[in-house]
Amino acid sequence: MAAARREPPAAIAAVLILSAAAAGGSAAFNLKPIAFDRGYAPLFGEENIVRSAGGGTVKILLNRFTGSGFISSDLYYHGFFSASIKLPSDYTAGVVVAFYVSNGMSNGDIFEKNHDELDFEFLGNVRGKEWRIQTNVYGNGSTSRGREERYQLPFDPTVEAHRYSILWTNTTITFYIDDTPIRVVVRNTAMAGDFPSKPMSIYATIWDGSTWATGNGKYKVDYKYAPFAAEFSDLVLDGCRMDPIQHLPEQCREAEAETSAADRTAISQEKRRDMLRFRQRLMTYTCCYDEVRYPAGLPECEAADEADKERYWKSGDIKVQPKPAVRRRRRRRSSRARVRVDDNSKVKADA
Ligand SMILES: *[C@@H]1O[C@H](CO)[C@@H](O)[C@H](O)[C@H]1NC(C)=O
Ligand SMILES: *[C@@H]1O[C@H](CO)[C@@H](O)[C@H](O)[C@H]1NC(C)=O
Repeated sequence: MAAARREPPAAIAAVLILSAAAAGGSAAFNLKPIAFDRGYAPLFGEENIVRSAGGGTVKILLNRFTGSGFISSDLYYHGFFSASIKLPSDYTAGVVVAFYVSNGMSNGDIFEKNHDELDFEFLGNVRGKEWRIQTNVYGNGSTSRGREERYQLPFDPTVEAHRYSILWTNTTITFYIDDTPIRVVVRNTAMAGDFPSKPMSIYATIWDGSTWATGNGKYKVDYKYAPFAAEFSDLVLDGCRMDPIQHLPEQCREAEAETSAADRTAISQEKRRDMLRFRQRLMTYTCCYDEVRYPAGLPECEAADEADKERYWKSGDIKVQPKPAVRRRRRRRSSRARVRVDDNSKVKADA
């Protein structure tokens, strides 16, 4: 699907290459997208899964009959999993789109009671209000210790596709939006089984979350606006494929060694600054500051920066909501207005 993507102007491309080289983790973004059918298969709502001719793009739809979703054909033990996603626009309250790795929900519920999961979840909104996004980490069925974070996005995710990536190694979990890491979880011994450590499948789903997703269930899916379509492209499944019967981590030694050699978990100082800026500007909840739910704290949370923590309630929720980074729809109009004003002033200045 590369042909469908717009090439960045040369100057920007050069900057991107420079920052990728500086990151020392450029391997992480050495993306080799695969066609849908080579890596994935329908999971549910097959009639609502629309593939492009070459399989480079797939749309999953939610209508009044069903949502839909797909699952990787293989299980993976560690890896880099990525998709470019364009979310449905207009009225999307109650709509949930998810991109995640897990071993609990199908495949015969292989780990029903002690499942692992890493997810990106996107929650729709009423017209003119922004989509919200959250990440979550569960290990070995630790659903009572949901390691959730919520953020606003620095762009309108319905205008064009952005890349969302999950890097999972045996020591680190990193969530990325485009080239910016937004969350890093470093394994420590105190996390014990809470760090995902069993082979997982990769999923993408769209479904009706009317009961909770928007305003705590106040705003429900309105099927007048259906079908809701989330478009996935640039599918990357770069990990160690695991035999589903034998589950032998030994198979993955070589892949692990490669991952270590590529040093994919390395994040440059510049990228770390980008991550901090993203979190300071756009994070609206973190389990790390949630003293109501976790009075003793979670073991992987670094000693909190007290000044940063001050900006949050003890519930982990931010005290002052960030201003929406992008106003949906209005933006174009106001920039057009600005152009007109500029034109007028120019006319005036000329006169
Ligand atoms: C995972 O959970 C199971 C049962 O819930 C427990 O027996 C096992 O020790 C746990 N594994 C780890 C690595 O903590
Ligand atoms: C992670 O994998 C590397 C390479 O195989 C190995 O050296 C290291 O001991 C592993 N760490 C853990 C915590 O399993």
